[in-house]
Amino acid sequence: MDLSTTYLGFRLPHPFMPGASPLVDDLDTVRRLEDAGAAAIVMHSLFEEQITREQVAVARYLDVPSESFAEALTYLPSPDSFALGPEEYLEHIHKVKAVVSVPVIASLNGATDGGWLGYARLMENAGADALELNVYSLATDLTDSGEMIERRTLHMLDAIKHSIGIPVAVKLSPFYTSFAYFARRLAEHGADGLVLFNRFYQPDIDVETLEVAPTLRLSDSSELLLRLRWLAILSGRVGTTLAVTGGVHTALDTVKAVMAGADAVQLVSTLLRHGPDQLTHLRRDLALWLEEHEYESLEQMKGSMNLLRCPNPGAHERANYMQILQSWWG
Ligand SMILES: Cc1cc2nc3c(=O)[nH]c(=O)nc-3n(C[C@H](O)[C@H](O)[C@H](O)COP(=O)(O)O)c2cc1C
Repeated sequence: MDLSTTYLGFRLPHPFMPGASPLVDDLDTVRRLEDAGAAAIVMHSLFEEQITREQVAVARYLDVPSESFAEALTYLPSPDSFALGPEEYLEHIHKVKAVVSVPVIASLNGATDGGWLGYARLMENAGADALELNVYSLATDLTDSGEMIERRTLHMLDAIKHSIGIPVAVKLSPFYTSFAYFARRLAEHGADGLVLFNRFYQPDIDVETLEVAPTLRLSDSSELLLRLRWLAILSGRVGTTLAVTGGVHTALDTVKAVMAGADAVQLVSTLLRHGPDQLTHLRRDLALWLEEHEYESLEQMKGSMNLLRCPNPGAHERANYMQILQSWWG
């Protein structure tokens, strides 16, 4: 079965790849992921805060007077909590490139337009084949408008696109007032791919200790539904390739994501639970499903459930919404 697909300009034998996670911090695991058939390797993120902290440390060492950074840095995780510091991250790209032959996608993660974005160039020089820019942030500033936030992200993308030649994907949350418009703007500013969506790690409250308790909960397939909706809305309409991240656990989840329009399928929770061999199983099960349903290739199925042929997706969504509410009475 021909499972080939194109993502970020790479022709890949199939859509499965590990998403950004600590799995890739260990070279043996990286080898196992490739052996299990990973079509590409997405590295975990290098965070803006890590880079800024290091730049601040150098400025302090050189006794250069700098802005008020001290307070902002106090509540961040200590450098020891990160597996790799900025320089080690660049070395790790070299090492990963040396042990695999599939495309290696480095990940930069931050929310402000600034000097830290210069690491995109360093990542390219270190051998990364593509870059994923994750703009995870929560809009908590009462003076920050949606337009300002979107403009900031577009500036970040512009800065990166001007400094490197490798493809750039943007990993996003769904929380934009007009996600379709913003997705189009990102494509117009040169995004080669969009990665849908970041999961927000939602802290709980421990009412006995009066502490905020951060929880790391792995996903399940129910989280896929939000992604399916937006893949279906954007597929074929924004002019970038699309990757799904969040809630893909089975071959059937993959079938749905590809029908909605995903070009690539990123996996984290299922690989953390079941190990790299899950890549082999999913690929086999996907091929079997396509054969049983008489498809000739993955490409034939791709986007078959997108909303491209729907003249008014907004009205379609409202119609579905009303129908669902009415269905309560059977
Ligand atoms: C332990 C862990 C570490 C992660 N680290 C990163 C990271 O460094 N950068 C990033 O963009 N996403 C990171 N993610 C998010 C994943 O890449 C992915 O988007 C998310 O887990 C949803 O996919 P899933 O449902 O397959 O787990 C991490 C997720 C987990 C569980």
